[in-house]
Amino acid sequence: MTSLLKLSAGASMPVIGFGTWQASDAELEAALEAALEAGYRHIDTAYVYENEAAIGRVLAKWLNSGKVKREELFIVTKLPPAGNHPDRVEKYLKRSLDNLGLDYVDLYLVHVPFGFLEKGEDIHPVESDGNILLDKSTNHINIWKAMEAQVDAGLAKSIGLSNFNISQIKRVLQSARIPPSNLQVELHAFFQQKELVDFCKEHNIIVCAYAPLGSRGTAKLYERAGISKDFPDLLNNPKVLEVAEKYGKTPAQILLRHIVQRGIAAIPKSTNPDRIQQNLQIHDFELSSEDVVSLNKLDQGSDGRILDFRFFKGIKNHPEYPF
Ligand SMILES: NC(=O)c1ccc[n+]([C@@H]2O[C@H](COP(=O)([O-])OP(=O)(O)OC[C@H]3O[C@@H](n4cnc5c(N)ncnc54)[C@H](OP(=O)(O)O)[C@@H]3O)[C@@H](O)[C@H]2O)c1
Repeated sequence: MTSLLKLSAGASMPVIGFGTWQASDAELEAALEAALEAGYRHIDTAYVYENEAAIGRVLAKWLNSGKVKREELFIVTKLPPAGNHPDRVEKYLKRSLDNLGLDYVDLYLVHVPFGFLEKGEDIHPVESDGNILLDKSTNHINIWKAMEAQVDAGLAKSIGLSNFNISQIKRVLQSARIPPSNLQVELHAFFQQKELVDFCKEHNIIVCAYAPLGSRGTAKLYERAGISKDFPDLLNNPKVLEVAEKYGKTPAQILLRHIVQRGIAAIPKSTNPDRIQQNLQIHDFELSSEDVVSLNKLDQGSDGRILDFRFFKGIKNHPEYPF
């Protein structure tokens, strides 16, 4: 089991969640079974991961058999970039709920601050030149009003943002009736996001770290887009290995503990049953302040960012590109 973080809307979010990006349906269904058995109750997905239905099948099995109660689960999904328009928020949330077989999600996030135009059912619509089909009229204030309406309608218990920068969050906060209670961003030992985390703490926004182990799977997206990029190997970093040996823990457990000790949630993804279990078992030890300081030194500032969305050709031309 895992400890909880209190969101401003009142709900409690398990500090370790189960990441589900980039796994086939069959792999994911088996992995989610293993994760629920291991004690995960916080599950992170997104409309664009195209795996909500697979998750829904496993959840239905667990809920129908009474092995878990709906109120014990913390299910997160996200508005796709093609839904970044006030008229489309409800439609995409209802589709996600349909896929998941649920009446509500515990947390609904605006996945990214930039918007795409809708082109049929393409989740990543492109123009004939291969550029992503941008909707440059994205208006966060109006989208947020539509997000708030989903809370009013009971379809989302809490709402939040993902991949937004400080000035974008400030703009939402200024007009929000229901302030964002969560921000999901890339965060790990090489990219510790201190300024953003401090800002969120000041505004009562719980931060959730994606790619907490360095997201090796992201490399494929850049390869496919023909972009050459170095990918850091956090799990084999000598300092991480040294601390892992000292505590008798794995490098992944050290990386996750380092995040969680800052009051930040993390959603490691794995399809391997041993690693799924291991990633949840980080509550039986504490890093000393000395070791925290030495791990803090691994921070590379913005150079440590892995995921900048450049695999969407032309993405930087969107006025709300956040980085
Ligand atoms: N909001 C966003 O824009 C956004 C972006 C990216 C990700 N996310 C969310 O965050 C989740 C996590 O990020 P991520 O999947 O990109 O990367 P990650 O969790 O940092 O890394 C996943 C990789 O680490 C491996 N791994 C997992 N546990 C391990 C362990 N104990 N020891 C060694 N290797 C281990 C996994 O392989 P195995 O499966 O073989 O174990 C997989 O290759 C995603 O699944 C998704 O839910 C959100």
